[in-house]
Formats: sequence, structure tokens, C-alpha cells
Amino acid sequence: MPNPETAALFSPVSLGAIELRNRIVMAPLTRSRADTAGVPSEHAARYYADRAAGAGLVIAEATQISFGAQGYCRTPGAHTTEQMAAWRKVVEAVHARGGKIVLQIWHCGRATAHLNRQPGTEAVGPSAVHQGGQMYTDQQGMQPHDMPRALTTSEIGQIVTDFADTAARAVEAGFDGVEIHSANGYLLHQFLSTNANLRTDQYGGSITNRMRFPLEIVEAVTARIGAERTGIRISPGHTFNELEEADTFDLYRRYIPALDGFKLAYLHVMRAFSNELPYDGASLARGLYSGRMIACGGYDGASGAALLAAGGADAVAFGRAFISNPDLVERIRTGAALTEPNQATFYTPGPAGYIDYPSLAA
Ligand SMILES: Cc1cc2nc3c(=O)[nH]c(=O)nc-3n(C[C@H](O)[C@H](O)[C@H](O)COP(=O)(O)O)c2cc1C
Repeated sequence: MPNPETAALFSPVSLGAIELRNRIVMAPLTRSRADTAGVPSEHAARYYADRAAGAGLVIAEATQISFGAQGYCRTPGAHTTEQMAAWRKVVEAVHARGGKIVLQIWHCGRATAHLNRQPGTEAVGPSAVHQGGQMYTDQQGMQPHDMPRALTTSEIGQIVTDFADTAARAVEAGFDGVEIHSANGYLLHQFLSTNANLRTDQYGGSITNRMRFPLEIVEAVTARIGAERTGIRISPGHTFNELEEADTFDLYRRYIPALDGFKLAYLHVMRAFSNELPYDGASLARGLYSGRMIACGGYDGASGAALLAAGGADAVAFGRAFISNPDLVERIRTGAALTEPNQATFYTPGPAGYIDYPSLAA
């Protein structure tokens, strides 16, 4: 029996050129199942297809635009022939189940450790500002982040090109679109910040300058694959990866309308609460953006449906619940209990904790 409490999640919606059968989106989830060359695992097709069979849209995990963009171990790329051949299998499996899938495209910037990257690559960021804390490496466990080198303006131009090229490869492989990762303290967010970006050129200082690099990427990607296939993820006020926006409110009051001007497929907001904001980032964004919006962060079926019913977003993304419930959509529809995810296998290699969570039918 359908659960009336969650009915608002079950109407179709179009995000640009992407038609969703319902408003339940699988959030991008790094699972570290790729090999050291960034080739998605043989299990990725089943993992994604099982979830895409019910979801309105799957946003595939953060994926590097180049070897230099990598931060974590065993994350996939979308810049070599072998990687794209593996992604093609994922896309075909998703489409065979009637699903839709976009690829989140990513540069980690300073959030990186050299043991996780290919030899010959360097840690780069807006400025030579070290990120404190540590990150996991397969070889030596927890390690400090690398000290980044400030990108030159020509390197910035190359990264913009790499994003556009990666988007083109994704669409060529059959993805329904891409999501530009401008959230959670990675390179685009580092440029937006006031503590990782200390540049004195046209990419630093004023809000106009700090937004320049992300907006150049949006411009290049939309010019290449079309705005109707391009989404973007932001996380206003989110301090993950030691980021600070000293002016969150003023920054996003400029950045979100600038994004709106591109007529993107969607804006995806990872909501966070910060001292700067009197309300969460999704509420902030809704008032500043006229296009389609996906909200994410701590929702369940009932609260997600309530958000939609109140006009707070057009779709809701679920993260952790999709890890442990391949049939999450059916469970939300019927009000069935959810399986809790096991954090211990979030990022471990192999099929355990990846493709072995049961569905109700099984
Ligand atoms: C294991 C794990 C991996 C994640 N990987 C990504 C990622 O690759 N890209 C991203 O933008 N967010 C990532 N996130 C954040 C999720 O997309 C989502 O915003 C977060 O889990 C909050 O949603 P939830 O409360 O529904 O889980 C990750 C979260 C988890 C738990």
C-alpha cells in the first residue's frame, strides 16, 4: 500500500532535458571501489542499476577530471579510455532498468594526499594554504594532507578545459548529464572560500573574483554539453575540509543568481547550518534561484515529502539511506523499515557493503 505521507515524492519532474519518473534522487556517494588507475569496479554496474531501477535520478559518485584532480584512494576518473569503457557499462545497466544517471565531476584541489594520486601529479589549490587534519591512504593509513601549490592562471584555464572535456566524455558514454562539484570543500569551493583562497589576481579577493573560476567552469561545461544537461552542487556554509566563507550570505546571494543565469538542469544544495545563516542553505538557495532545485542532507521520506509539499525544492536527494537500501524508493513508497548502513564498509574495496544489501523482494 502506498504511504500517503510520502506521496509528494512520487510525481514526475523534468530537470532540464532529464525526465525523472519521481522526485527521489540518489545523492553522489564516494565508495572507493575503483582500482588505482581510477577504473570503476566490475560491481559498479549492478550497484548503480539496482538503485536506479527505482530512483528518479542517480547522481554517480564524485569522479576525477584528471589524475591530478584525485584526492582520495580508489576513486574513479572519467579521463582515460579504460575508465570510460567501465562507465559505459554502468550507464547501459542503468538505462536497461529505465533509470537516469548523471556523473558528478570533481577536482579535489588541496584535499589530497600524494599516496592517493598517481606519481608525477602535484597537490594544487587556489593558494599555498595547507589543510589541517589527515586523510586515509591504503599504503600508510591516516596521513597529513599535502601542502598545495597555488595554481597559475594558465593551469586554471587547463582545469576549466578538463571539466568541459570530461563532461563531453560523460555524455558521449551515455550519461544523461553531469553535476559539477562546487561543494564540500573541494577545488571550486576552495576558490569560493576566504581561507583557502588568498589570491591577489582576478581569481581572489572580492566575491566577483572568487566566483570567477567556478563560473568559468559552468560556462565551459554548458557550452560543450548544453545547460539542460548540466547540474551543479553547492553547500553554502558547509565547513567540511576546513573551509571558511567569512561572508556566506553575501557570497551565495551573488553566486546562486549567477548560476541561475545559465538556465541549468538543476541546482543541488547540500544543506548545512552555519553561524552565518539564520536558516539552512537549501532555504537560502530556494529564494535566490528560479530553476529546478534538489535539496539534500538528513531527509527521510516524510521530511523530504513535506519539503516538496511546502515548495522548498523540486526533488530530494538521499545519501546514506541509498547505500544500505537498494530498493529505497519502494520502501519509501510503502513505508517499510530501512536497513541501517554499515559505516565500516563505506570506503572498503570489494563487493561487501556495496552490492550485498538486501532488497525487500529478496
Ligand atoms: C559515504 C559517503 C560518500 C559521499 N560522497 C560524496 C560525493 O562523492 N560527492 C558529494 O557531493 N557528496 C558526497 N557525500 C555527501 C552525500 O551526497 C550527502 O550529501 C550526505 O550523505 C547527506 O545526505 P544524507 O543525510 O541523505 O546521507 C557522501 C556522503 C557519504 C556518507
